[in-house]
Amino acid sequence: MLYSEKVMDHFRNPRNVGEIEDADAIGEVGNARCGDIMRVYLKVENDIIVDVKFMTFGCGSAIATSSMATELIKGKPISQALELTNQAVVEALDGLPDYKLHCSVLAEGAVKAAIKNYYDRNNIPYDPEAFKNIAD
Ligand code: FES
Repeated sequence: MLYSEKVMDHFRNPRNVGEIEDADAIGEVGNARCGDIMRVYLKVENDIIVDVKFMTFGCGSAIATSSMATELIKGKPISQALELTNQAVVEALDGLPDYKLHCSVLAEGAVKAAIKNYYDRNNIPYDPEAFKNIAD
């Protein structure tokens, strides 16, 4: 089987799909090669991500990794969500084929782009290095 059960589960039943109308932050990234696009919406209270939703126009792995990424940051402090890596998303999904790893990079980028947007909107200072890997 090329894809793990977890990947198939998150592809078939993605968690946290949708938009948040009064979102506190939105991040969007795209991969120029495959043309896939991910958007992440955050609702933040007292620095905690109380709600997160995503919209992904992309491949099955892009959907599964977005779904898992949102699950991993939901209920977490912003600072912890910022430490999310694509490897953590892949591990939580029990792996992805090598040639699909870039899909998980997109998911990490979408989360980071949303956090950057949150910092920008609230004039919170940050280290630009933390955002240098955002895929676009
Ligand atoms: Fe583009 Fe998966 S093929 S993100």
